[in-house]
Amino acid sequence: MALIRAAAEPSASELEHEAARLADKGLAGLGYRDEELERAARLTWRINRLKKEKNAVIPAHVYQRPEILLGVADFVGDSYKLAKLGAASDAKTIVFCGVRFMAETAKILSPDKEVLLPAPEAGCSLSESITAADVRGLKKKHPGAPVVVYINTTAAVKAECDVVVTSANAPKILRKLYEKHEKAIFAPDAMMGKNLAKELGKTIGKDLIIWEGSCIVHDNFDAASVEFYRKMYPGVKILAHFECTPALTSVVDYIGGTGDMMKWVADHKASSYMLITECGLGDLARTKFPDKAFVPMCRLCPHMKAVTLERVLSALESPSASQRVEVPAAVAARALRPIERMFELADDKAAA
Ligand code: 13P
Ligand code: SF4
Repeated sequence: MALIRAAAEPSASELEHEAARLADKGLAGLGYRDEELERAARLTWRINRLKKEKNAVIPAHVYQRPEILLGVADFVGDSYKLAKLGAASDAKTIVFCGVRFMAETAKILSPDKEVLLPAPEAGCSLSESITAADVRGLKKKHPGAPVVVYINTTAAVKAECDVVVTSANAPKILRKLYEKHEKAIFAPDAMMGKNLAKELGKTIGKDLIIWEGSCIVHDNFDAASVEFYRKMYPGVKILAHFECTPALTSVVDYIGGTGDMMKWVADHKASSYMLITECGLGDLARTKFPDKAFVPMCRLCPHMKAVTLERVLSALESPSASQRVEVPAAVAARALRPIERMFELADDKAAA
């Protein structure tokens, strides 16, 4: 008896076509071999079909696996871009390829949409470093100082603050706040706080109060190796994420968030570039700028890399209770205002 192919499986020619599409998108250039392309293609084919059937959209942070970024994502970007585009989409379901604080932000901005997090345990060391009670303590200690929190925080922490920021707009928003205030609180990333204080000419502990959180990926890069790489690759331009230590950021050519790092590479001509951040950004840069040379120096974020194509498919097919992202309505209502305030200040739609 002839076997009837399950409708959810690609035919041999569909599979071949999908594997070729993934190769052309850039996976071949990143070193994916034929069997890896075929494995990915089996999954991306099904995910892309289900996505249409279920009116779902897939935002993906730049640190996600290349097969997610190039195979199934509808938009790719930094935390700011993902927050804005997620909210603007009219899809019924958001399958967030990123970490919990990003998916929570999407749910706060789109409470009527179903928001799914394929890897429900994907947290963030920054987000876990501070609680809502800690923020209340800071406010008590420094009354009147505006509370600025990094988007890498829980919804409950956002609910306690005045304005949320991302790496793409923190200097701009703080500058605006300093037009009216002498002192501000920035939490929870101490490294970013110190980098911001330096950029804005502020003194930690006096004008800028910080919290001692840090990113397990970025706080570990070694500043001493920068000198070594400069000798090894003459002319190399070295870019570091805002979450790196001040010792490191003081010896690089550019500091910024992931979106700004990509823009800097696009706008500059150099013999080679080193992107000191999570490895996903380098992978993406190599596919976006095939004519530019990249010197590797990166670390993997275990939280970001917990998202796999298999888990994206399972979330779309039949999401588990833990993959469904919920934010208590009272918390979401309070967290929404500081996120909207970020949009207004970052896009020059309001004064501080
Ligand atoms: P970006 O907003 O710069 O992409 O940063 C997010 C993040 O988690 C960095 O570690
Ligand atoms: Fe959090 Fe660092 Fe991972 Fe970004 S790279 S999600 S800040 S742990």
